[in-house]
Amino acid sequence: MHELTREQVDNFGKDLNDTSLPLKARFRALFALRNVADDRSVAWIGKCLGDESALLKHELAYCLGQMQNKSAIPILVQTLEDVKQEPMVRHEAGEALGAIGDISVLDLLKKYSSDPLPEVAETCILAVARLEYVNGCDDGTKSPYDSVDPTPSHESKNVDELRTVLVDDKQTLWDRYRAMFTLRNMNTDESIAALASGLFCEDSALFRHEIAYVLGQVQSPVATEQLKARLFLQSENCMVRHECAEALGAIASDECVKILEQYAKDEERVVRESCEVALDMADYENSGAFQYAGVAQQ
Ligand SMILES: [Fe+2]
Ligand SMILES: [Fe+2]
Repeated sequence: MHELTREQVDNFGKDLNDTSLPLKARFRALFALRNVADDRSVAWIGKCLGDESALLKHELAYCLGQMQNKSAIPILVQTLEDVKQEPMVRHEAGEALGAIGDISVLDLLKKYSSDPLPEVAETCILAVARLEYVNGCDDGTKSPYDSVDPTPSHESKNVDELRTVLVDDKQTLWDRYRAMFTLRNMNTDESIAALASGLFCEDSALFRHEIAYVLGQVQSPVATEQLKARLFLQSENCMVRHECAEALGAIASDECVKILEQYAKDEERVVRESCEVALDMADYENSGAFQYAGVAQQ
């Protein structure tokens, strides 16, 4: 948790909720609030969940989960239950409730484990398993990438074995996610290539979006071609295309920047906005001007 004055928190909160500001400025305000993680910053983030941008709202829900502050539970429950919210937003709300790890939402998550939307149902199945896991033992889901993962990692450290589990649609998502996070943590060219093969598992869009997300965390150029392939595929679920765009932004090579400039004109709003934010992150990767993941600067 980072110390900001009440006034600084309120200023970031106002920026976050200011629809006249460019999205990238609102995202920067969000990341500053995320690092504070007190009740006041949670309230400012929660207040913004009625926004028009699905991209922004899904990131709000994601951050509320990562902050692990229980005062966010009511707004996350409301977001998960609201069928007018976009699937990717409801997904992040469900995942966030899993990340906070409070057993009080177990029955609710069980209920939404049979939601008609597969993204929501699969998320809630994983979140139920996570709640049962973290309430039974020590939390082993903090990753070396400063994130709280939906599952712990896998006991195997063999890339071929892990790839086999990863791409096998007969295995549970829980075990496939465990293999995913282990391949990410190993972070060798071989393990990243295995991880990227998961982008072609057609059985679950949720699974592919998580693969793209972790590829963004590792920022390895080894996965560039695979990420491009899924971003370019117009029929791909927008939640997956969005994560591919952001991962390319994190890799931040000249080629990636050119692609993002091109897809900032995509037909899908979530993809356009992802490219806009990803270009801002790529700018940061290449300049160091603003610390996205770390301490907020004002
Ligand atoms: Fe997600
Ligand atoms: Fe996302």
